[in-house]
Amino acid sequence: MDSIVVTGNGALAGEIPIAGAKNACLTLMPATLLSDEPLTLTNAPRLSDIRTMTDLLASLGAEVSRLQDGQVLAMSSHDLNNHKADYDIVRKMRASILVLGPLLARHGHAIVSLPGGCAIGARPVDLHLKALEALGAELDLRDGYVHATAAGGLRGGTIDFPIVSVGATENALMAATLAKGTTVIRNAAREPEIVDLARCLQKMGAQIDGAGTNTITVQGVDRLHGATHPVVTDRIELGTYMLAPAICGGEVELLGGRMDLVGAFCEKLDEAGIDVLETSKGLSVKRRSDHVKAVNVTTEPFPGFPTDLQAQMMALLCTADGESVLEEKIFENRFMHAPELIRMGADIDVHGGHATVRGVKRLKGAPVMATDLRASVSLILAGLAAEGDTTISRVYHLDRGYEHVVRKLEGVGARIERIKGQ
Ligand code: UD1
Repeated sequence: MDSIVVTGNGALAGEIPIAGAKNACLTLMPATLLSDEPLTLTNAPRLSDIRTMTDLLASLGAEVSRLQDGQVLAMSSHDLNNHKADYDIVRKMRASILVLGPLLARHGHAIVSLPGGCAIGARPVDLHLKALEALGAELDLRDGYVHATAAGGLRGGTIDFPIVSVGATENALMAATLAKGTTVIRNAAREPEIVDLARCLQKMGAQIDGAGTNTITVQGVDRLHGATHPVVTDRIELGTYMLAPAICGGEVELLGGRMDLVGAFCEKLDEAGIDVLETSKGLSVKRRSDHVKAVNVTTEPFPGFPTDLQAQMMALLCTADGESVLEEKIFENRFMHAPELIRMGADIDVHGGHATVRGVKRLKGAPVMATDLRASVSLILAGLAAEGDTTISRVYHLDRGYEHVVRKLEGVGARIERIKGQ
Protein backbone atom coordinates (compact mmCIF):
# COMPACT_ATOMS: atom_id res chain seq x y z
CA MET A 1 0.00 0.00 0.00
CA ASP A 2 1.28 3.47 -0.87
CA SER A 3 2.10 6.06 1.75
CA ILE A 4 2.79 9.79 1.69
CA VAL A 5 5.72 11.43 3.43
CA VAL A 6 5.39 15.13 4.28
CA THR A 7 8.29 17.12 5.65
CA GLY A 8 7.44 20.23 7.64
CA ASN A 9 8.50 23.37 5.87
CA GLY A 10 8.01 27.11 5.81
CA ALA A 11 5.88 29.45 3.78
CA LEU A 12 4.14 28.32 0.60
CA ALA A 13 3.76 30.40 -2.56
CA GLY A 14 2.13 29.94 -5.95
CA GLU A 15 -1.09 28.67 -7.49
CA ILE A 16 -3.18 25.53 -7.06
CA PRO A 17 -5.81 24.65 -9.67
CA ILE A 18 -9.07 23.39 -8.16
CA ALA A 19 -10.81 20.48 -9.86
CA GLY A 20 -14.49 19.84 -10.53
CA ALA A 21 -16.43 18.66 -7.48
CA LYS A 22 -16.31 14.95 -6.70
CA ASN A 23 -19.67 15.11 -4.94
CA ALA A 24 -21.33 16.97 -7.82
CA CYS A 25 -19.88 14.59 -10.41
CA LEU A 26 -21.10 11.57 -8.43
CA THR A 27 -24.69 12.78 -8.68
CA LEU A 28 -24.43 14.16 -12.23
CA MET A 29 -23.20 10.82 -13.57
CA PRO A 30 -26.32 8.80 -12.57
CA ALA A 31 -28.44 11.50 -14.27
CA THR A 32 -27.39 9.80 -17.53
CA LEU A 33 -29.74 6.95 -16.56
CA LEU A 34 -32.71 9.31 -16.98
CA SER A 35 -32.32 9.70 -20.74
CA ASP A 36 -31.56 7.59 -23.81
CA GLU A 37 -29.60 10.50 -25.29
CA PRO A 38 -25.94 11.27 -24.47
CA LEU A 39 -24.95 13.27 -21.39
CA THR A 40 -21.45 14.78 -21.42
CA LEU A 41 -19.77 16.19 -18.32
CA THR A 42 -16.77 18.48 -18.61
CA ASN A 43 -14.43 19.55 -15.77
CA ALA A 44 -14.75 16.09 -14.22
CA PRO A 45 -12.22 15.26 -11.48
CA ARG A 46 -9.87 12.28 -11.96
CA LEU A 47 -10.59 10.23 -8.84
CA SER A 48 -11.10 6.63 -7.81
CA ASP A 49 -14.71 7.38 -6.69
CA ILE A 50 -15.46 8.56 -10.24
CA ARG A 51 -14.00 5.31 -11.61
CA THR A 52 -16.21 3.37 -9.18
CA MET A 53 -19.31 5.23 -10.47
CA THR A 54 -18.11 4.56 -14.04
CA ASP A 55 -17.91 0.83 -13.25
CA LEU A 56 -21.36 0.91 -11.65
CA LEU A 57 -22.97 2.64 -14.65
CA ALA A 58 -21.16 0.27 -17.05
CA SER A 59 -22.51 -2.71 -15.08
CA LEU A 60 -26.02 -1.42 -15.84
CA GLY A 61 -25.25 -1.27 -19.56
CA ALA A 62 -24.45 2.46 -19.82
CA GLU A 63 -21.46 3.55 -21.90
CA VAL A 64 -19.01 5.89 -20.19
CA SER A 65 -16.01 7.15 -22.19
CA ARG A 66 -13.26 9.09 -20.45
CA LEU A 67 -11.92 11.74 -22.84
CA GLN A 68 -9.26 14.43 -22.46
CA ASP A 69 -7.37 12.52 -19.80
CA GLY A 70 -10.57 11.85 -17.87
CA GLN A 71 -11.72 15.46 -17.60
CA VAL A 72 -14.59 14.80 -19.98
CA LEU A 73 -17.05 11.97 -19.36
CA ALA A 74 -19.19 11.11 -22.37
CA MET A 75 -22.06 8.92 -21.25
CA SER A 76 -24.97 7.18 -22.91
CA SER A 77 -27.69 5.05 -21.37
CA HIS A 78 -29.28 4.15 -24.68
CA ASP A 79 -28.88 0.42 -24.20
CA LEU A 80 -29.36 -0.25 -20.53
CA ASN A 81 -29.62 -4.00 -20.04
CA ASN A 82 -29.46 -4.48 -16.29
CA HIS A 83 -31.36 -2.93 -13.40
CA LYS A 84 -29.37 -4.46 -10.58
CA ALA A 85 -26.55 -2.55 -8.87
CA ASP A 86 -24.44 -5.30 -7.30
CA TYR A 87 -23.04 -5.32 -3.78
CA ASP A 88 -19.49 -5.79 -5.13
CA ILE A 89 -19.47 -2.28 -6.61
CA VAL A 90 -21.94 -0.51 -4.32
CA ARG A 91 -20.08 -1.52 -1.12
CA LYS A 92 -17.08 0.54 -2.26
CA MET A 93 -18.98 3.81 -2.32
CA ARG A 94 -22.10 5.08 -0.58
CA ALA A 95 -22.98 7.45 -3.43
CA SER A 96 -23.89 4.34 -5.47
CA ILE A 97 -27.39 4.63 -3.97
CA LEU A 98 -27.84 7.60 -6.34
CA VAL A 99 -28.59 5.22 -9.24
CA LEU A 100 -31.79 4.09 -7.47
CA GLY A 101 -33.97 7.14 -8.19
CA PRO A 102 -33.02 7.51 -11.89
CA LEU A 103 -33.27 3.76 -12.66
CA LEU A 104 -36.68 3.57 -11.05
CA ALA A 105 -37.94 6.75 -12.72
CA ARG A 106 -36.97 5.67 -16.23
CA HIS A 107 -37.52 1.91 -16.05
CA GLY A 108 -40.10 1.36 -13.33
CA HIS A 109 -37.90 -1.03 -11.41
CA ALA A 110 -34.45 -1.29 -9.84
CA ILE A 111 -32.54 -3.53 -7.47
CA VAL A 112 -29.75 -1.75 -5.61
CA SER A 113 -27.49 -3.10 -2.90
CA LEU A 114 -27.42 -1.19 0.39
CA PRO A 115 -24.21 0.88 0.35
CA GLY A 116 -20.92 1.04 2.25
CA GLY A 117 -18.61 4.10 2.12
CA CYS A 118 -16.54 6.10 4.61
CA ALA A 119 -16.65 4.78 8.18
CA ILE A 120 -18.00 8.02 9.67
CA GLY A 121 -21.13 6.89 11.44
CA ALA A 122 -24.20 4.81 10.70
CA ARG A 123 -25.22 6.70 7.53
CA PRO A 124 -28.53 4.96 6.75
CA VAL A 125 -30.47 5.41 3.48
CA ASP A 126 -33.98 5.54 5.01
CA LEU A 127 -34.58 9.10 3.75
CA HIS A 128 -33.78 8.10 0.16
CA LEU A 129 -36.26 5.25 0.44
CA LYS A 130 -39.03 7.30 2.08
CA ALA A 131 -38.68 9.95 -0.61
CA LEU A 132 -39.12 7.38 -3.38
CA GLU A 133 -42.11 5.86 -1.55
CA ALA A 134 -43.69 9.33 -1.50
CA LEU A 135 -43.44 9.22 -5.30
CA GLY A 136 -45.32 5.91 -5.43
CA ALA A 137 -42.44 3.42 -5.38
CA GLU A 138 -42.98 0.05 -3.73
CA LEU A 139 -39.91 -1.07 -1.86
CA ASP A 140 -38.86 -4.40 -0.47
CA LEU A 141 -35.61 -4.81 1.48
CA ARG A 142 -34.21 -8.34 1.29
CA ASP A 143 -30.79 -10.00 1.18
CA GLY A 144 -29.03 -6.63 1.57
CA TYR A 145 -30.77 -5.21 -1.51
CA VAL A 146 -33.52 -2.65 -2.09
CA HIS A 147 -36.01 -4.07 -4.61
CA ALA A 148 -37.93 -1.08 -5.96
CA THR A 149 -40.86 -1.05 -8.38
CA ALA A 150 -43.18 1.62 -9.71
CA ALA A 151 -45.70 -0.15 -11.94
CA GLY A 152 -47.07 2.48 -14.32
CA GLY A 153 -44.25 4.90 -13.36
CA LEU A 154 -43.58 7.26 -10.47
CA ARG A 155 -46.11 9.99 -9.67
CA GLY A 156 -45.50 13.43 -8.19
CA GLY A 157 -45.92 13.87 -4.45
CA THR A 158 -44.83 15.85 -1.42
CA ILE A 159 -41.57 14.88 0.25
CA ASP A 160 -40.97 16.45 3.65
CA PHE A 161 -37.50 15.54 4.88
CA PRO A 162 -37.22 15.38 8.70
CA ILE A 163 -33.50 16.25 8.46
CA VAL A 164 -31.49 17.73 5.60
CA SER A 165 -29.85 15.07 3.43
CA VAL A 166 -27.79 15.89 0.37
CA GLY A 167 -27.99 12.43 -1.21
CA ALA A 168 -31.69 11.91 -0.49
CA THR A 169 -32.50 15.33 -2.00
CA GLU A 170 -30.50 14.36 -5.12
CA ASN A 171 -32.20 10.98 -5.48
CA ALA A 172 -35.64 12.57 -5.01
CA LEU A 173 -34.88 15.38 -7.46
CA MET A 174 -33.73 13.03 -10.21
CA ALA A 175 -36.67 10.66 -9.69
CA ALA A 176 -39.18 13.53 -9.71
CA THR A 177 -38.06 14.80 -13.13
CA LEU A 178 -39.80 11.87 -14.83
CA ALA A 179 -42.68 11.39 -12.35
CA LYS A 180 -46.21 12.21 -13.50
CA GLY A 181 -47.33 15.55 -12.05
CA THR A 182 -45.81 17.91 -9.50
CA THR A 183 -43.36 17.02 -6.74
CA VAL A 184 -42.59 19.35 -3.85
CA ILE A 185 -39.41 18.60 -1.86
CA ARG A 186 -39.47 20.32 1.55
CA ASN A 187 -36.45 20.79 3.84
CA ALA A 188 -34.32 20.09 0.75
CA ALA A 189 -30.52 20.32 0.93
CA ARG A 190 -29.19 23.61 -0.49
CA GLU A 191 -25.63 22.56 -1.29
CA PRO A 192 -24.01 23.92 -4.48
CA GLU A 193 -23.92 20.32 -5.75
CA ILE A 194 -27.76 20.27 -5.66
CA VAL A 195 -27.88 23.51 -7.65
CA ASP A 196 -25.40 22.04 -10.15
CA LEU A 197 -27.48 18.88 -10.53
CA ALA A 198 -30.65 20.94 -11.06
CA ARG A 199 -28.91 23.04 -13.73
CA CYS A 200 -27.81 19.94 -15.60
CA LEU A 201 -31.29 18.37 -15.35
CA GLN A 202 -32.80 21.65 -16.63
CA LYS A 203 -30.49 21.48 -19.65
CA MET A 204 -31.84 17.95 -20.18
CA GLY A 205 -35.38 19.39 -20.24
CA ALA A 206 -36.44 18.99 -16.60
CA GLN A 207 -38.82 21.56 -15.05
CA ILE A 208 -37.32 22.51 -11.68
CA ASP A 209 -37.85 25.57 -9.46
CA GLY A 210 -36.21 26.49 -6.18
CA ALA A 211 -32.93 24.50 -6.27
CA GLY A 212 -30.61 26.17 -3.75
CA THR A 213 -33.55 26.99 -1.43
CA ASN A 214 -35.18 24.62 1.04
CA THR A 215 -38.23 23.98 -1.16
CA ILE A 216 -37.75 22.50 -4.62
CA THR A 217 -40.69 22.07 -6.98
CA VAL A 218 -40.46 19.70 -9.93
CA GLN A 219 -43.00 19.42 -12.73
CA GLY A 220 -42.53 15.93 -14.22
CA VAL A 221 -41.91 15.59 -17.97
CA ASP A 222 -42.33 12.54 -20.26
CA ARG A 223 -38.69 12.32 -21.27
CA LEU A 224 -35.34 14.04 -20.85
CA HIS A 225 -32.87 14.65 -23.67
CA GLY A 226 -29.08 14.89 -23.96
CA ALA A 227 -26.90 17.75 -22.65
CA THR A 228 -23.37 18.91 -21.98
CA HIS A 229 -22.59 20.28 -18.53
CA PRO A 230 -19.46 21.51 -16.69
CA VAL A 231 -19.07 20.14 -13.16
CA VAL A 232 -19.04 22.93 -10.51
CA THR A 233 -15.76 23.68 -8.67
CA ASP A 234 -14.97 21.40 -5.73
CA ARG A 235 -15.57 23.59 -2.66
CA ILE A 236 -14.08 20.97 -0.35
CA GLU A 237 -10.85 20.66 -2.34
CA LEU A 238 -10.85 24.47 -2.46
CA GLY A 239 -11.24 24.84 1.32
CA THR A 240 -8.63 22.16 1.96
CA TYR A 241 -5.94 23.92 -0.09
CA MET A 242 -6.95 27.32 1.36
CA LEU A 243 -5.79 25.89 4.68
CA ALA A 244 -2.27 25.12 3.37
CA PRO A 245 -1.02 28.75 3.46
CA ALA A 246 -3.15 29.35 6.58
CA ILE A 247 -1.15 26.62 8.34
CA CYS A 248 2.30 27.15 6.78
CA GLY A 249 2.32 30.89 6.04
CA GLY A 250 2.96 32.41 2.64
CA GLU A 251 0.35 33.22 0.00
CA VAL A 252 -1.42 30.80 -2.35
CA GLU A 253 -3.93 31.50 -5.11
CA LEU A 254 -6.64 28.90 -5.65
CA LEU A 255 -7.52 28.90 -9.32
CA GLY A 256 -11.25 28.66 -10.01
CA GLY A 257 -12.06 29.32 -6.34
CA ARG A 258 -15.35 31.14 -5.61
CA MET A 259 -16.28 32.91 -2.39
CA ASP A 260 -19.97 31.89 -2.67
CA LEU A 261 -18.94 28.23 -2.41
CA VAL A 262 -17.06 28.69 0.88
CA GLY A 263 -18.80 31.61 2.65
CA ALA A 264 -19.16 30.17 6.18
CA PHE A 265 -15.68 28.67 5.98
CA CYS A 266 -14.18 32.06 4.99
CA GLU A 267 -15.90 33.71 7.96
CA LYS A 268 -14.13 31.28 10.30
CA LEU A 269 -10.81 31.84 8.53
CA ASP A 270 -11.27 35.59 8.97
CA GLU A 271 -11.96 35.08 12.70
CA ALA A 272 -8.79 32.98 12.93
CA GLY A 273 -6.74 35.75 11.31
CA ILE A 274 -6.56 34.50 7.72
CA ASP A 275 -7.25 36.85 4.79
CA VAL A 276 -9.12 35.60 1.72
CA LEU A 277 -9.23 37.87 -1.32
CA GLU A 278 -11.14 37.47 -4.58
CA THR A 279 -8.83 37.71 -7.60
CA SER A 280 -9.43 37.54 -11.35
CA LYS A 281 -8.42 33.86 -11.28
CA GLY A 282 -10.00 32.71 -8.04
CA LEU A 283 -9.20 33.24 -4.37
CA SER A 284 -5.93 34.24 -2.72
CA VAL A 285 -5.18 33.26 0.87
CA LYS A 286 -2.61 34.45 3.43
CA ARG A 287 -2.26 34.79 7.19
CA ARG A 288 -2.46 38.27 8.68
CA SER A 289 0.34 37.45 11.16
CA ASP A 290 2.31 34.44 12.39
CA HIS A 291 -0.42 33.76 14.90
CA VAL A 292 -3.65 31.93 14.17
CA LYS A 293 -6.44 32.58 16.66
CA ALA A 294 -8.56 29.82 18.19
CA VAL A 295 -12.14 29.71 16.84
CA ASN A 296 -15.22 27.64 17.59
CA VAL A 297 -16.73 25.73 14.68
CA THR A 298 -20.10 23.97 14.32
CA THR A 299 -20.72 21.87 11.22
CA GLU A 300 -24.08 22.35 9.54
CA PRO A 301 -25.78 21.77 6.20
CA PHE A 302 -24.98 24.39 3.52
CA PRO A 303 -24.72 27.39 3.85
CA GLY A 304 -23.19 26.48 7.24
CA PHE A 305 -19.67 25.25 7.89
CA PRO A 306 -19.22 21.96 5.95
CA THR A 307 -18.57 18.72 7.83
CA ASP A 308 -16.21 17.80 4.98
CA LEU A 309 -13.82 20.60 6.09
CA GLN A 310 -13.98 19.90 9.84
CA ALA A 311 -10.93 17.58 9.97
CA GLN A 312 -8.80 20.00 7.93
CA MET A 313 -9.90 22.95 10.12
CA MET A 314 -8.89 20.95 13.18
CA ALA A 315 -5.39 20.59 11.71
CA LEU A 316 -5.17 24.40 11.55
CA LEU A 317 -6.48 24.88 15.09
CA CYS A 318 -3.93 22.44 16.59
CA THR A 319 -1.36 25.25 16.58
CA ALA A 320 -3.71 28.23 17.12
CA ASP A 321 -3.41 30.56 20.14
CA GLY A 322 -5.99 29.38 22.69
CA GLU A 323 -8.76 26.81 22.89
CA SER A 324 -11.15 25.93 20.06
CA VAL A 325 -14.28 23.79 20.26
CA LEU A 326 -15.40 21.93 17.16
CA GLU A 327 -18.96 20.62 17.19
CA GLU A 328 -19.88 17.93 14.65
CA LYS A 329 -23.62 18.02 13.95
CA ILE A 330 -23.81 15.99 10.71
CA PHE A 331 -22.01 12.71 11.42
CA GLU A 332 -21.73 11.19 14.89
CA ASN A 333 -18.35 9.50 14.46
CA ARG A 334 -16.26 12.01 12.62
CA PHE A 335 -13.30 12.73 14.89
CA MET A 336 -11.18 9.72 13.94
CA HIS A 337 -8.41 12.07 12.84
CA ALA A 338 -8.10 13.39 16.43
CA PRO A 339 -6.10 10.41 17.82
CA GLU A 340 -3.77 10.65 14.82
CA LEU A 341 -3.25 14.40 15.36
CA ILE A 342 -2.60 13.65 19.06
CA ARG A 343 0.20 11.30 17.90
CA MET A 344 1.72 14.39 16.31
CA GLY A 345 1.64 16.29 19.60
CA ALA A 346 -1.78 17.97 19.35
CA ASP A 347 -3.78 18.57 22.55
CA ILE A 348 -7.33 17.40 21.76
CA ASP A 349 -10.18 16.00 23.89
CA VAL A 350 -13.10 14.38 22.14
CA HIS A 351 -16.33 14.21 24.14
CA GLY A 352 -19.39 13.04 22.21
CA GLY A 353 -20.04 15.31 19.29
CA HIS A 354 -17.48 17.91 20.47
CA ALA A 355 -13.71 18.17 20.26
CA THR A 356 -11.75 20.67 22.33
CA VAL A 357 -8.46 21.64 20.74
CA ARG A 358 -5.91 23.50 22.85
CA GLY A 359 -3.31 25.06 20.59
CA VAL A 360 0.30 23.86 20.97
CA LYS A 361 3.37 25.72 19.72
CA ARG A 362 4.31 23.19 17.07
CA LEU A 363 3.30 19.69 15.94
CA LYS A 364 5.92 16.96 15.52
CA GLY A 365 6.10 14.57 12.58
CA ALA A 366 5.00 10.98 13.29
CA PRO A 367 3.78 7.87 11.47
CA VAL A 368 -0.03 8.25 11.21
CA MET A 369 -2.90 6.41 9.55
CA ALA A 370 -5.59 7.84 7.29
CA THR A 371 -8.99 6.69 8.53
CA ASP A 372 -11.25 8.33 5.95
CA LEU A 373 -11.08 10.68 3.01
CA ARG A 374 -11.09 14.07 4.76
CA ALA A 375 -9.13 12.79 7.77
CA SER A 376 -6.30 11.73 5.46
CA VAL A 377 -5.89 15.19 3.96
CA SER A 378 -6.03 16.80 7.42
CA LEU A 379 -2.97 14.72 8.34
CA ILE A 380 -1.15 16.00 5.26
CA LEU A 381 -1.98 19.59 6.26
CA ALA A 382 -0.81 18.95 9.82
CA GLY A 383 2.39 17.35 8.49
CA LEU A 384 3.14 20.42 6.37
CA ALA A 385 3.57 22.53 9.48
CA ALA A 386 5.07 19.86 11.79
CA GLU A 387 8.68 19.49 12.75
CA GLY A 388 10.29 16.60 10.84
CA ASP A 389 8.67 13.87 8.74
CA THR A 390 5.07 12.68 8.88
CA THR A 391 4.35 9.38 7.12
CA ILE A 392 0.69 8.85 6.27
CA SER A 393 -0.37 5.30 5.48
CA ARG A 394 -3.63 4.02 3.90
CA VAL A 395 -3.64 6.86 1.37
CA TYR A 396 -6.12 5.01 -0.86
CA HIS A 397 -8.71 7.04 1.06
CA LEU A 398 -7.10 10.17 -0.37
CA ASP A 399 -7.28 8.91 -3.95
CA ARG A 400 -11.08 8.82 -3.60
CA GLY A 401 -11.30 12.59 -3.36
CA TYR A 402 -8.09 14.48 -4.20
CA GLU A 403 -6.48 14.36 -7.63
CA HIS A 404 -2.72 14.94 -7.92
CA VAL A 405 -2.41 16.01 -4.28
CA VAL A 406 1.37 15.58 -4.31
CA ARG A 407 1.80 17.54 -7.53
CA LYS A 408 -0.53 20.35 -6.40
CA LEU A 409 1.22 20.86 -3.04
CA GLU A 410 4.72 20.48 -4.54
CA GLY A 411 3.73 23.22 -6.97
CA VAL A 412 3.50 25.72 -4.09
CA GLY A 413 6.73 24.61 -2.44
CA ALA A 414 5.62 21.83 -0.07
CA ARG A 415 7.98 18.93 0.59
CA ILE A 416 5.77 15.92 -0.05
CA GLU A 417 6.41 12.55 -1.65
CA ARG A 418 4.36 9.47 -2.44
CA ILE A 419 6.11 6.20 -1.65
CA LYS A 420 4.92 3.20 -3.66
CA GLY A 421 3.91 0.23 -1.50
CA GLN A 422 4.88 -3.38 -2.20
C1 UD1 B 1 -22.97 13.99 1.18
C2 UD1 B 1 -21.53 14.08 0.71
C3 UD1 B 1 -20.58 13.98 1.89
C4 UD1 B 1 -20.95 15.02 2.95
C5 UD1 B 1 -22.42 14.94 3.33
C6 UD1 B 1 -22.87 16.04 4.27
C7 UD1 B 1 -21.67 13.07 -1.52
C8 UD1 B 1 -21.30 11.96 -2.40
N1 UD1 B 1 -21.29 12.97 -0.22
O1 UD1 B 1 -23.13 12.70 1.78
O2 UD1 B 1 -19.26 14.20 1.41
O3 UD1 B 1 -20.17 14.78 4.10
O4 UD1 B 1 -23.23 15.02 2.14
O5 UD1 B 1 -22.58 17.28 3.71
O6 UD1 B 1 -22.27 14.04 -1.94
N2 UD1 B 1 -29.06 10.44 6.86
C9 UD1 B 1 -30.04 9.61 7.37
N3 UD1 B 1 -30.78 8.88 6.48
C10 UD1 B 1 -30.57 8.95 5.12
C11 UD1 B 1 -29.57 9.80 4.63
C12 UD1 B 1 -28.83 10.54 5.53
O7 UD1 B 1 -30.25 9.52 8.58
O8 UD1 B 1 -31.27 8.26 4.38
C13 UD1 B 1 -28.26 11.24 7.80
C14 UD1 B 1 -26.77 10.91 7.74
O9 UD1 B 1 -26.43 9.81 8.54
C15 UD1 B 1 -26.18 12.21 8.22
C16 UD1 B 1 -27.13 13.27 7.68
O10 UD1 B 1 -28.33 12.58 7.37
O11 UD1 B 1 -26.18 12.25 9.61
C17 UD1 B 1 -26.66 14.00 6.44
O12 UD1 B 1 -26.21 13.06 5.49
P1 UD1 B 1 -26.34 13.32 3.92
O13 UD1 B 1 -26.51 14.78 3.68
O14 UD1 B 1 -27.35 12.40 3.36
O15 UD1 B 1 -24.92 12.88 3.42
P2 UD1 B 1 -24.59 12.14 2.06
O16 UD1 B 1 -25.51 12.56 0.99
O17 UD1 B 1 -24.40 10.70 2.32
